[in-house]
Amino acid sequence: MKKNKNSSILSVAVFSVFSLLGGGCASQDSGVNTAEIIKYSDFNPAQVLLDNNGRHVNAHGAGFLYDNGKYYMFGEHKVGGTVGNRALVGVHCYSSDDLYNWKDEGIALPMSDDPDSEIIRGTVLERPKVIYNPKTKKYVMWMHLEFRKGKFAKSPKLEHILSESPDYRTARVGVAVADKVTGPYKFICSFRPQAGVYPVNDAEKLKAFRKELDAKNPNWRDCDLNKNCPSKEAVVRGQFFLRDFEGGQMARDMTLFVDDDGKAYYACASEENATLHIHELSDDFQGFTGRYVRVLRGDYHEAPAFFKKDGKYWLFTSHCTGWAPNPGRISVCDSMLGEWKELGNPCRGEGQKKSRTRPYSAKPDTTFLSQSTAVIPVQGKKDAFIYVGDRWISEDAIDGRYVFLPIEWENGTPIIKWYDKWDLSFFDSDKK
Ligand code: DGJ
Repeated sequence: MKKNKNSSILSVAVFSVFSLLGGGCASQDSGVNTAEIIKYSDFNPAQVLLDNNGRHVNAHGAGFLYDNGKYYMFGEHKVGGTVGNRALVGVHCYSSDDLYNWKDEGIALPMSDDPDSEIIRGTVLERPKVIYNPKTKKYVMWMHLEFRKGKFAKSPKLEHILSESPDYRTARVGVAVADKVTGPYKFICSFRPQAGVYPVNDAEKLKAFRKELDAKNPNWRDCDLNKNCPSKEAVVRGQFFLRDFEGGQMARDMTLFVDDDGKAYYACASEENATLHIHELSDDFQGFTGRYVRVLRGDYHEAPAFFKKDGKYWLFTSHCTGWAPNPGRISVCDSMLGEWKELGNPCRGEGQKKSRTRPYSAKPDTTFLSQSTAVIPVQGKKDAFIYVGDRWISEDAIDGRYVFLPIEWENGTPIIKWYDKWDLSFFDSDKK
């Protein structure tokens, strides 16, 4: 990390959630403490990453898009404290020429104060991802939503948001579009995917299982993880899937992926997070073709992030442990809608020697205290991919850090190792 010769110290207002009391709009000028402007020439995983204004980059659960010669990062703008895990501001966008230095491009999708909006302030809005559709010339953002509930669910006031918990049974996906990469994005709608549609890989087995369930117990739909939880075998065979068949499938942790042939895919943790669904997107990238698959059934994968190398598709995911880190997972397949296979934890080595004071270790068994969110293909460098993970700080959400690490290879399988500092010349070396 190098200080810019002309660097100056900037006073940055400390963002206070209390500025929201009474329902006023949150300022986009939020940030963490007073900070310096730094010109970076390397990655410093899990250190505070300052933007062009000297503020901590605020884009968690991020997605990345390369567009017209620049990288764009879109993520959850968090505020301080645990309430910061609710979306009080919106989706924040940054741009970069080199992946080290990020310019604040503002809030691409603001949360709404409209009581009838599906993205009213205080909703849970997570893991936004943006892709560009060359046919419609629109930028399309997908995001995971959990609605507010209770008597104040239509109030944008912080005191009301603080008095309630989100309705984690929502499990919907939302779509927004924009004409410009940086927005503003217009929220279109949210939905539960594939109501009444069977996946292409499991349709017959699911129909047969439904008959079996109907014959055994007419109340088999009355189940979730806490109530009448089905056996692992029944989860794998699709009891949660069948429960949600008519109303649409649960849609939680998500990502988007655009293949070389221009086809796009949306993947999400579904069926109470037990099974991933991968959906082919329609030509305008705003809906589905109806072709989708259930994969890694009953294995509880979250935090999906795809990339492709030499015709093989790779998928980083995590286990399901809330905000707490867990061992990462890498899976592989020959096609997006094929039968994915998990190969275990891709993390190797000692990890981070001096990690922050948390009750976890920054070692391979915690994915170096991170959870996957995206893989960035580096432009202009062959086979150069960067793993990006969130180091969540759930008790003070705004303080969450970003872990950028180079993807390396071990017997043809992607792995990641910890580096306190590294730069893109890494991909020029034989370490790759
Ligand atoms: C893990 C998910 O990956 C995050 O995006 C977030 O939803 C947390 N769970 C909430 O506990």
